[in-house]
Amino acid sequence: METEVVVIGSGPGGYTAAFRAADLGKKVTLIEYYPTLGGVCLNVGCIPSKALLHAAKIMCEADEAKDMGITLGKPKVDLKKLREWVEKQTINKLTGGLSALAKKRKVTVVQGHAEFLSSKALQITKTDGSTEELKFVDAIIAVGSRPIKLPFLPDDPRIMDSTGALQIADLPEDLLIIGGGIIGMEMGTVYDALGSKVTVVELLDNILGNVDKDLAAPLYKRMQKRFKSFMLSTKVTKVEAKKDGLYVTFEGKEAPASPVRFDKILSCVGRTPNSKEVKAEKAGVNVDERGFIAVDKQQRTNVANIYAIGDVVGNPMLAHKAIPEGKIAAEVIAGKQHYFEPLCIPNVAYTDPEVAWTGLTENEAKAKGIEYEKGTFPWIASGRSLALGRDEGVTKILVDPKTNRVLGAGIVGANAGDLIAEVGLAIEMGCDIEDIALTIHPHPTLSETVAQAAEIIDGTITDLYMPKK
Ligand code: FAD
Ligand code: NAI
Repeated sequence: METEVVVIGSGPGGYTAAFRAADLGKKVTLIEYYPTLGGVCLNVGCIPSKALLHAAKIMCEADEAKDMGITLGKPKVDLKKLREWVEKQTINKLTGGLSALAKKRKVTVVQGHAEFLSSKALQITKTDGSTEELKFVDAIIAVGSRPIKLPFLPDDPRIMDSTGALQIADLPEDLLIIGGGIIGMEMGTVYDALGSKVTVVELLDNILGNVDKDLAAPLYKRMQKRFKSFMLSTKVTKVEAKKDGLYVTFEGKEAPASPVRFDKILSCVGRTPNSKEVKAEKAGVNVDERGFIAVDKQQRTNVANIYAIGDVVGNPMLAHKAIPEGKIAAEVIAGKQHYFEPLCIPNVAYTDPEVAWTGLTENEAKAKGIEYEKGTFPWIASGRSLALGRDEGVTKILVDPKTNRVLGAGIVGANAGDLIAEVGLAIEMGCDIEDIALTIHPHPTLSETVAQAAEIIDGTITDLYMPKK
């Protein structure tokens, strides 16, 4: 077999790179180990988790509607139906769509496990065990990442990673989540809404990692009421699997004195790159001690005809970072002088409330000594937020005090993940704060809170009373 461009891995980075290279006239082969395209994102990541979060939201809203005088009765969940809905509604439609798009573009899709033999050839091991050699001109490594395994966790079916948790095989009465990062908070939201008692243990003194504390606070406050408990600044040191449950020993600030019993554990303490899987070193590609492949701004590795994109090249491990990297790699291979140089990459926790941030954070500004001015608009003054029955949201924008240019933003509340995109555009376009403040936003919408945060910095806010500086 021979091809011009081989793409290894069909996640959001890989399929984007393959499709873009084909659109630019290249003969492309896309290799994927699993029978469906789409990688972690479509099969066991972004999309199924968001479908479950949508179901969780309906459960919570049905319960909370009683405050409006609407009693719907206690929602019941049929796990089998829910699983089928997630698979039919999202996974099957999207992964099937990708196969159709690959066919239309004449991308050759090969199911098998790829390993480099050299910088010009790789070996594909098919599911039946047979092998085939593929010669290529250029290669794009898009092999993604997998969950980190804590070494002291025993092998026990009651201990899940994110893939296991998404399957919702059953609803444990007591669920321990190790890691209060994005997966922990999203999957905790799902299991809590469906009826499990959720405990989160987190090493740091904050949920969602390094996000500004004022942005994490509204989510933390709501989840403190819903979850059984949080143990911050605490870690797990031992898990004993017994017949009647998993007995967990903790250490740290909020550690209980003796082991605590749980029915199931979800371990989500970060992800590790899949570079070893592909034997990149046989092609002469440098892989660092953590397994990441270093690339330049054109996604090129130290080997001129080999590129890498997505989770395998480093943080942030996000689909919307993998996708543009995939485009750049394909375009560079096709001869275009393009570079991956975003000014900001948004982060979103699709929890309830959603937490989103992009560009400079206050934590980062303080750590690096960057001067900034901020405008924080509380959603208690947003008519639309109150009409949704919620008031805990916040929209915060940071600007450069000398130029008034937008540097970053954080938003907490319903649809924060959609709202943050406006600030991303403002940062990329070099907008100053007046550009946002003077842009007419539709009323009544949550998007107005972005303009209102801008008006605070601009000194023109009328929806709040701000004492004169
Ligand atoms: P992946 O999607 O990891 O795909 C890599 C593919 O390569 C896999 O299909 C794998 O089978 C294949 N592969 C690996 N080695 C080989 C080999 N040797 N031969 C052949 N094939 C191989 N990101 C977001 O932006 N938003 C979200 O809401 C979000 N939610 C998430 C929820 C969960 C539960 C998880 C786990 C992740 C989530 N992510 C989210 C992260 C996102 O899924 C990843 O950043 C993204 O999938 C990375 O894309 P990728 O193309 O680098 O690789
Ligand atoms: P994460 O890095 O977001 O969070 C892991 C958390 O575990 C951290 O807060 C860390 O301090 C904590 N931790 C580490 N070791 C621990 C220990 N021994 N005991 C207790 N806590 C410990 O990683 P997570 O949640 O596994 O997600 C992996 C990646 O997947 C994310 O970084 C993100 O890139 C991606 N993702 C993105 C989503 C989104 O964009 N909405 C959703 C889900 C995943």
